Amino acid sequence: MSTSDGALLRVEGLRVYFPIKSGIILERHVGDVRAVDGVDFELRRGETLGLVGESGCGKTTTGRAIVRLYRPTAGSIRFDGQELAGLEGEALRRVRRQMQMIFQDPFASLNPRMTLGSIVKEPLTIHGIGSPKEREGRVRQLLEVVGLNPGFVNRYPHEFSGGQRQRIGVARALAVQPDLVVADEPISALDVSIQAQILNLLERLQGEFGLTYLFIAHDLSVVRHISDRVAVMYVGRIAEVASSRDIFLGPLHPYTVALLSAIPIPDPAVEARRRRIILKGDVPNPVAPPPGCRFHTRCWLRGRLGNPAECEAVDPRVRDLAAGHQVACHFAEQVDGSAEQRLVTGRGAPPASSPA
Ligand SMILES: Nc1ncnc2c1ncn2[C@@H]1O[C@H](COP(=O)(O)OP(=O)(O)OP(=O)(O)O)[C@@H](O)[C@H]1O
Ligand code: SF4
Ligand SMILES: [Mg+2]
Repeated sequence: MSTSDGALLRVEGLRVYFPIKSGIILERHVGDVRAVDGVDFELRRGETLGLVGESGCGKTTTGRAIVRLYRPTAGSIRFDGQELAGLEGEALRRVRRQMQMIFQDPFASLNPRMTLGSIVKEPLTIHGIGSPKEREGRVRQLLEVVGLNPGFVNRYPHEFSGGQRQRIGVARALAVQPDLVVADEPISALDVSIQAQILNLLERLQGEFGLTYLFIAHDLSVVRHISDRVAVMYVGRIAEVASSRDIFLGPLHPYTVALLSAIPIPDPAVEARRRRIILKGDVPNPVAPPPGCRFHTRCWLRGRLGNPAECEAVDPRVRDLAAGHQVACHFAEQVDGSAEQRLVTGRGAPPASSPA
């Protein structure tokens, strides 16, 4: 996989396995949940990389391994030139300051017994930043930056709405002036009317503080406007990475095309014309991922582009198909991304033919 200069974070061959144990006394290791199973990507300074995929494909585990809340089973995580994978103790604590996480559920992630002021101040105390008086000042400043009234420092999380609570989570993440923020589905738990406000806030803060974002979402439509590039994950692996524009206008992995086809279009005439690709079957169990191409058990193009036996037996490596466009499919050259895209968006497409 190609890399470019200016990468803040470079992940290579990342694996995070959760061991499965059996037996109460002699806990035998009987297998692993291969949540992340050989993932490569990079994050350039100041960009937003959207990480999308269905539930259970390993997005959160990837994010948590990067900020070293999980220890990788294998692989390399280079952050600003420093290898994080085996880091421990004081060295890990120091680097953690540069990487912060924003969580999906702003209520569950905030301690209900702590006041707003102490929640935002805590990371400053942990990292020994500033005098007590300076910390108070910094907390007030952070609250203003995220659009919260600094007069509310003595209130508790339950006194705030979902959107306000997520602002608290953002203020807490920014307290230590990180370079990288991993935002794990930061708007999924919020009312639709509030989601855009939080997205706008995150975009504004990125510009103001030069932040780099890994933005995790279920749904491609959420990452469309905020991401410079998008990585699509499937069962512990990256299926496709490209600029946001290329993912939306010329997807080359059959899985990405299917995900795009699931985004509703608010125009009933277009909606009636477009084709929806319904993936059959369940997402495979990451304890025993399918051999060959992991997507072969559900791929709607298997056998239509080339020899299906190859899909079933040979694991497709991630290949560069165009500048900055990487795909893990044996037959990606034959996926006419723009034609497929016309089909799923209904733009200029003929009436829908029978689905695959
Ligand atoms: N601590 C854990 N112990 C065992 N298995 C885990 C653990 N955390 C996650 N998993 C499993 O690893 C796989 C990937 O989980 P992960 O939470 O990373 O997926 P995700 O893409 O974030 O899903 P979602 O969209 O539902 O948040 C799933 O099969 C999950 O059940
Ligand atoms: S390698 Fe085969 S099964 Fe996998 S995505 Fe490509 S066509 Fe589908
Ligand atoms: Mg998750």
